Amino acid sequence: MISARATWRLVRAGNLPARLRATRDGQTAVRLQIVGAALDTGVLDALAERPATTADLAARTGATDTALLAAFLRVLEAAGLAEGRAGTWRLGKQGRVVLDDDVVRASYEAFAGFHTDLYRDLRPQLAGGPARRDVTERGGVIARISAALEPFIEEVLTRTVAELRPERVLDVGCGAGLQLAAVLDAAPGARGIGVDTDEPAVAIARQTLERRGLAGRATVLHGDVREQQLDPVDLALLANVVYYLPLGERVAFLRDIGRLLAPGGALVVVTTAATPHLISRHFDLLLRAQEGAMELPDTAELVTQLTAAGLRPGEPERITPGAPIVAVVATRPAGQTEEGSSSTV
Ligand SMILES: C[S@@+](CC[C@H](N)C(=O)[O-])C[C@H]1O[C@@H](n2cnc3c(N)ncnc32)[C@H](O)[C@@H]1O
Repeated sequence: MISARATWRLVRAGNLPARLRATRDGQTAVRLQIVGAALDTGVLDALAERPATTADLAARTGATDTALLAAFLRVLEAAGLAEGRAGTWRLGKQGRVVLDDDVVRASYEAFAGFHTDLYRDLRPQLAGGPARRDVTERGGVIARISAALEPFIEEVLTRTVAELRPERVLDVGCGAGLQLAAVLDAAPGARGIGVDTDEPAVAIARQTLERRGLAGRATVLHGDVREQQLDPVDLALLANVVYYLPLGERVAFLRDIGRLLAPGGALVVVTTAATPHLISRHFDLLLRAQEGAMELPDTAELVTQLTAAGLRPGEPERITPGAPIVAVVATRPAGQTEEGSSSTV
């Protein structure tokens, strides 16, 4: 029997709402780590392949401590990720939910991994420990989560294509090539070039374009966009790339891209913006903790940088619910000379 007196003493002992919140936060964090570990250990994938005994699962996942594995499986059962019956383990309903949608899976991998490792490793990093390498080493999982926001970015791109009717398109930092494919789909007569410094991304972009029947109209180059010999384009994309650049290099970078635009051409910049929003602040910290001076751009600052680069930016537009992602379309003035200054004619 739960004692009313003890409950009353508990309620009066400290800050009850804060205690409840601490417990709720803790339980959410534990559940996140449970799902992360179920993916990391390979147990969830093994159960998705076929039902198994604990010994079979140990053999298939490389676990040698079967007693600990059995206790972990009981945790997975309590979380709805696995179901145990008559000595056999099966994938549970919640486990199926995680595996059925890759954005869900990638979110668990990222949040149980580097997003929270950032804070676990913060003390040594603040004391001069090594910078993080998540952006370079976990590019794949970052791209898989970003896929969820693709429809919002595509909406902006399709609208810009309808207004501009580009014939030549450049996607700077094309990643998996989804946006280049969306633009080429929206502009059936256009040809496109994707450029990315990341070799695996280049390979994925080529596959994306091939799969969507666009390979004949597109080329994907490996390397830094600043080191490519490129002909002028009518539309350039810079989606989720600005924050990879140190603040001090941004104007020069934007000017280099601006120079690749034909007069009247446009650059579409899409980025998460620095705002007081918790997730924006977190993302900014994660970027600043990486090797190479990365940080989220402030929207007003981005507009100033685009102007300083000789472009004419329009109003920044917030394009997604729940995350401070903005798009800015900046045009290269029609009368501009190669050097970026306006001609007097
Ligand atoms: C977060 S990903 C974004 C990919 C894609 N645009 C998207 O929004 O899904 C940023 C990409 O920019 C690439 N990148 C960064 N700086 C670059 C540069 N100077 N030239 C070419 N690619 C660059 C990175 O390799 C990475 O693949």
